[in-house]
Amino acid sequence: MAITGKTILITGASSGLGHALALSLSHGNNNLVVTARREGLLQELAKQVEANGSRCTPVAADAIDPHACEAVIRAGLDAYERIDVAILNAGGGKPVHMAEVDAATVLHTMRVNYDTFVNFLCPMIAHMRDMGGTIAHTGSPAGFFGLPKSGPYSAAKAAGRILLDTCRIEVANRKIDFVALYPGFTETPGLDPDDVPIKALVIQPERAVKEMLRAIERGTSHRMFPKRIAWLMTLARLMPEWLRRRVLGAAA
Ligand SMILES: NC(=O)c1ccc[n+]([C@@H]2O[C@H](COP(=O)([O-])OP(=O)(O)OC[C@H]3O[C@@H](n4cnc5c(N)ncnc54)[C@H](OP(=O)(O)O)[C@@H]3O)[C@@H](O)[C@H]2O)c1
Repeated sequence: MAITGKTILITGASSGLGHALALSLSHGNNNLVVTARREGLLQELAKQVEANGSRCTPVAADAIDPHACEAVIRAGLDAYERIDVAILNAGGGKPVHMAEVDAATVLHTMRVNYDTFVNFLCPMIAHMRDMGGTIAHTGSPAGFFGLPKSGPYSAAKAAGRILLDTCRIEVANRKIDFVALYPGFTETPGLDPDDVPIKALVIQPERAVKEMLRAIERGTSHRMFPKRIAWLMTLARLMPEWLRRRVLGAAA
């Protein structure tokens, strides 16, 4: 465990990737601030983290609410005085079809994936402006193209990715690393197996966590994994748009 003795904020920590990240980091003598809406799960996680030798402050909050996010950060600073690493990971989405979905559902997906990110991103930049640090975002390969059944989710993840690109340019002299993580299909409660076109593409959370933490430690700007997904995405990017549309349409 290379990340040791740090204070780390993890959003979406009650389940899946965020939960697995917290458990992995709990072996590094770290201070963890973990947040999500489900308080019982956060309390359980805190007990596990402390049993593994780290400190943990669980704070239940709906990350769509900016005031609730500020309260999470305040609780973390009250407990540990600084936050060195913020892993902004909350999000998710259900399959929808653009011929049938209503505007409220599209906008809600944006709130769950974009607002939950921005509500932590801005105060974290303000906090790290002078002392430096790392801000990581769990994006998705889906944020590179409008994928079938994932239009609103793709759009929300794309928005987060592009905002982070600007942060990298404008806040570059502030010693903050902005790390964009793009996990491929990972077996978590958030992944519906019916949404996976090729089962062999699915990886386990432990593998995803290893990739994510390596990128965070190194301050890597963009990390897509596993390699198979990264290759498929490169191939898709090289295709002319009309061909990509045809391939994605057939896959759907
Ligand atoms: N699994 C994959 O294949 C995959 C692939 C690419 C990207 N991702 C991304 O990875 C991240 C984690 O997903 P996962 O697969 O680990 O799914 P998950 O097990 O469903 O975890 C999602 C987490 O986000 C939290 N969350 C959702 N809405 C929230 C809100 N309004 N306020 C606060 N917390 C909220 C959930 O906590 P509560 O419900 O307790 O609030 C939960 O802890 C997501 O951003 C997802 O888009 C996943």
